[in-house]
Formats: sequence, C-alpha cells, structure tokens
Amino acid sequence: MEIIILPDPNAVARTAADIIQARLEKGRTVLGLATGSTPLGTYEELIRRHCDAGLSFADAEAFTLDEYLGLPPDHPESYRSVIRREFTDNVDLRDTAVHSIDGQAKDPEAEATRFDTAIQAAGGVDIQILGIGTDGHIGFNEPMSSLASRTRIKTLTKQTRLDNARFFPSLDDVPYHVLTQGLGTIREARHLLLIGLGQAKARAVAAAAEGPVTAACPASALQLHPHATVLIDTPAASQL
Ligand code: GLP
Repeated sequence: MEIIILPDPNAVARTAADIIQARLEKGRTVLGLATGSTPLGTYEELIRRHCDAGLSFADAEAFTLDEYLGLPPDHPESYRSVIRREFTDNVDLRDTAVHSIDGQAKDPEAEATRFDTAIQAAGGVDIQILGIGTDGHIGFNEPMSSLASRTRIKTLTKQTRLDNARFFPSLDDVPYHVLTQGLGTIREARHLLLIGLGQAKARAVAAAAEGPVTAACPASALQLHPHATVLIDTPAASQL
C-alpha cells in the first residue's frame, strides 16, 4: 500500500486527478466512482481539466459503488443522481456509459448480481475511487462485512445514518438499507485509490493502513491489494 500525505484537500484533489488523468490517457478506462463529500474536489478538478484542457472521458465507462435501497433513481440524494450532478454530467462521459445500481429494483438480490456481472462484462474496473467512513467502511460495507463479499444488500449502522443525515431533511429520511459493491468486488479493481480528508477520518485511516486486516475495519482490505494508494491530507494522517 502506498500512502501519500499532502498538506491540504486541494493538493489531494490534484494528485488524485493526476492519477486518473494518466490512466485516461492510456486509452479505454473503466472508472469506479464513489459518492460522499470526499471525492468532490477530485471530481471538480477533473471537470476543470475537461473544460480547460480538453481531458476527455469519451472512451471511459463508470460504475458507482453503492446505492440507497428504496430511493427512486431520480431522487436528488440517490447516488445515481449525485454522481451525475457532481461529476459525469459535466464531462463528456456518455450517459449510457454511467452504470448505477437500481435502488428500486423489485428483486434487489438479482439487481446486485446483475451489477457485479456488468462490471465483469466491462472488463473490470481500472481505477476505483474510494472514500472512507468514520467507522472504516468503504462503499457501504459496514464493519464485519466479509472481505470476500459481492454486491449485496446491507443494513446501515446508526453511525453511518447519522453521518449521512446531513444530506437529507432529517435523520428519519435516511434509508436503513442499501445495495453496495462487496469488498471482494471492490478488491477486483486493478487500482484502488482511497481518499481521506480531515481529522474525523484519522482513526479510520490509521486502522485501515496500520491495523490488522480485519472485517472490523473494512478498509483494511486494501492491505491485501497489490495496487492500493491512500491519498490523505495532514489532519487525516494525524494518527498514523
Ligand atoms: C458514504 C458512502 C461512502 C463514503 C462515505 C464517506 O457512506 N457510501 O462511499 O466513502 O459515505 O463519506 P464522506 O466522504 O462524505 O465523508
């Protein structure tokens, strides 16, 4: 695991964008896109490079990491909507090349299998962008998720619902269940790029990078990956 500590979120965003740009310039690229506030600076930087410097995503495909169960796809907080609004609608990624999980699928288990199969059919993910939850979750793989898990239904912990309540009118509006790529699914990406910003993530980052590999800290699964990069700012590095 490569750990890169940078002075501030802007430097982290630029470095993440450099890594993604270098991959895009090699040719067809399958991106794995995370939601949450952490990657927003990286998406802004990529949009800026698209608008100002012609960085093209025309040959790219993208897969989202997870989705709230029960939210309509056009709900403003569905991850399908968020990733389009914050990133893919602002670059030249074709709409049909952005794959998300249907949180309203009649058969969520079949939807989970369909999504895993679609990732494989696309040739797998080249770069998977990841944030990290305060409890060490990645995607919505909460603590005690199997390190071999596939895309499936999960129940959110109270902490994650509290953390994500800021995006909803009230805590009661935060869904209890989600569909998420599993840790086994995520680990099949060829390059994992985990971004951590701020003091609130310091404990989770330290557990992921320096603690034991354990389902108690899902992000510790990155230690098993041959090409994992952890990009953090100084406050997020404070417990290393
Ligand atoms: C959610 C998402 C994760 C994200 C996490 C952290 O739980 N499912 O993919 O990493 O939030 O969010 P933030 O970056 O806003 O701290």
